[in-house]
Amino acid sequence: MAIDLRSDTVTLPSPRMREAMARAEVGDDVFGEDPTINALEALVAARAGKEAAVFVASGTMGNLSSLLAHAQRGQEVVLGDESHIYHYEAGGASALGGLVFHPVATRDDGVMPIEAIAAALRPSAEWLAPPGVICVENTHNRCGGAIMTPEHVAAVGQLARAHGLPVHLDGARLFNAAVALGLPLTAWTSHVTSVQLCLSKGLSAPVGSLICGPAPFVNEARRMRKILGGGMRQAGVIAAPAILALTDMVARLADDHRHARILADGITSLPGVVLDPPEVDTNIVVFRMPGVAQAEALEEALEREGVLVSNFGGGRLRAVTHDGITEADCRAAVEVMARVHGLLRGGERG
Ligand SMILES: Cc1ncc(COP(=O)(O)O)c(C=O)c1O
Repeated sequence: MAIDLRSDTVTLPSPRMREAMARAEVGDDVFGEDPTINALEALVAARAGKEAAVFVASGTMGNLSSLLAHAQRGQEVVLGDESHIYHYEAGGASALGGLVFHPVATRDDGVMPIEAIAAALRPSAEWLAPPGVICVENTHNRCGGAIMTPEHVAAVGQLARAHGLPVHLDGARLFNAAVALGLPLTAWTSHVTSVQLCLSKGLSAPVGSLICGPAPFVNEARRMRKILGGGMRQAGVIAAPAILALTDMVARLADDHRHARILADGITSLPGVVLDPPEVDTNIVVFRMPGVAQAEALEEALEREGVLVSNFGGGRLRAVTHDGITEADCRAAVEVMARVHGLLRGGERG
């Protein structure tokens, strides 16, 4: 069996999740009558310290419904130039919502400096697209699972309030940040207007994310979900394992973080390979090879040996730990990396 480090999205539902799916009480969720979805939404809204929540099919749908609910056509979405929404969500907010992306330079640790965000908020003028919403991401995917501090999110919230703007937090992996720092989700969510939380990544639910926020915002996000074709009917069958993701799977994220450190320590010992960013806060290890060709060669050679990683481009590879990866898998992956990397370097010299 391959050691699959491409993403924590490859996690499989547990046997308890599959049983819960079979037993789930269901109803028509567009009529608000699915008791399992209603329970999930109430549970997650409470965890996030928000008035309401809505269950959506994916993180992408959660972010898109949120942006469409917050901003009007022609307004700007101020977001990080390394953010998932900007890179990997197919430009949905522009394509479907007429929103304009205003990317802000992101530091290695996933932070957009407050002054940079402030500079991106255009003043009111006939010829300028006005800001509609500010987005932050925590943990930060392309910045190696970096944790953004609650203090920084508080500063973003303060800036946004001063400009009368909402803040949306892409918290696809906010539970990882919470477990790593031993803090409740509210340490971050209390400073933002809305948050999107994925249950289908490290938490291993087969499907789904929740958007949480004030009730009027969530009602509008629910309407946007319907416009996007995401109004679901007897979807309690997927809400049931999502509830177990919250009760059974959160604490074990600490194992993923420990395993990521084992990978990181092994990777830093390979000549010419550097962690990028240098810190590993959670379950994502991003490392840089001396060049694009070397990264591709290593990725392919690892795949032939049954170790799968993903390629971020620009010579950067990503390895992610999750429920399907044991400590022994990490040690085995490091051994394979050392061997394959040594062979490739030998080949280069020869
Ligand atoms: C930070 C971040 N946000 C959003 C998403 C989108 O989630 P989904 O794949 O469920 O659409 C991902 C997916 O990996 C992600 O890493």
